[in-house]
Amino acid sequence: MERTEAIQAFESVFKAKAEDLFTAAGRINVIGEHVDYCGGKVFPAALNLRCNIYGRKTGGNKIRMAFRGIDGIVEVDTTRLNDYRELKIGNYQAGVAYFLQQTGVEIVGCDLYYDCTVPFGSGLSSSAAIEVATSVAFCEYAGVAYDKVKLALISQRAENEYAGVNCGIMDQFASAMGKKDHAVLLNCATLEYEYVPLQLGAYCLVVANCNKPHNLVESKYNVRRQEVETALKALQTVLPISCLAEVTPKQFMENKYLLSGVVAKRAEHVVMECDRVNKAVEALKAGDLVELGALLNESHYSLRDLYEVTGKELDTLSALARKETDCLGSRMIGAGFGGCTISIVKKTAVDGFIRRVGKAYQDSIGYKASFYETSIEDGITVEKL
Ligand code: GLA
Repeated sequence: MERTEAIQAFESVFKAKAEDLFTAAGRINVIGEHVDYCGGKVFPAALNLRCNIYGRKTGGNKIRMAFRGIDGIVEVDTTRLNDYRELKIGNYQAGVAYFLQQTGVEIVGCDLYYDCTVPFGSGLSSSAAIEVATSVAFCEYAGVAYDKVKLALISQRAENEYAGVNCGIMDQFASAMGKKDHAVLLNCATLEYEYVPLQLGAYCLVVANCNKPHNLVESKYNVRRQEVETALKALQTVLPISCLAEVTPKQFMENKYLLSGVVAKRAEHVVMECDRVNKAVEALKAGDLVELGALLNESHYSLRDLYEVTGKELDTLSALARKETDCLGSRMIGAGFGGCTISIVKKTAVDGFIRRVGKAYQDSIGYKASFYETSIEDGITVEKL
């Protein structure tokens, strides 16, 4: 949706002019999947696909929200912010408002129009983009200075404790702290981070959505979290560790016998994926894209065989990508069970890649994949209209 259209939509819903635009990004993750909640390092980057919020401060205690493509207005009372956990649309926003209020931020009435260009259920973190952009809007309208890392943590808390999804910090951090043309190497145990230029020379990242219907992702995700928690407890009986990411591949092999079948597989993925993140960052810094591509492939195989979060759609999409001579590597990103892949593809070959992979995917799965034009952008933006 063009900006002018969104501004008009705001005006027709709220009968007043939008005054501000707050945005926060969806994200990809180059590598480091299902390790953020194990204290591992992740390597995400913020996208041009974003949650755009057109806003106007109204004062009082009513937050009114409208959404592109959805009729009606969702209204939330700032004096009863604990009461909206069951909202189908608006619960992330209420959750963020609730936790900001708990930390002393005065939540001020406002009208917000949401134009989210991060496709929902795509594994590109539309929920984090919504949470982060909303938290920025509330802080701006409260007139308080904010720290972006703290907003990421509040947003994660809203998702964990208000919406009930036990996610790690990667998505919200990337959405808030992303930087144009860089990936963020984030240590999820300490929140130390480093920006690394995401320069791929003659290559680029192609983001493709397998379009598998969204299905019980949250509950399967929460099960994985319990499994790695079980692994951590067992390994802590012999190793002085506070998180799984601290276990080296060698220590893991020596102590694997302590873990039962499925739990051993899950933990092996985490340990080896953490190792791959370090190697991938080195490869990227050295300009070795062939090595980076190989690591992406290994990450996918591990998510398929050990963590078991891929499914035939993501496996097919990434396998078709890998068959292309101008593709150096491909893997699923995000929680899995559907959603997106990223592939490193030669820039001059992208059109043919999309055509061939798209056709073969449809022939094999029976419906189309979507390919997005993406660029790496800043996380949060704030603008007066
Ligand atoms: C989802 C979660 C993140 C992370 C990824 C898997 O996107 O929100 O915290 O765990 O899955 O890497």
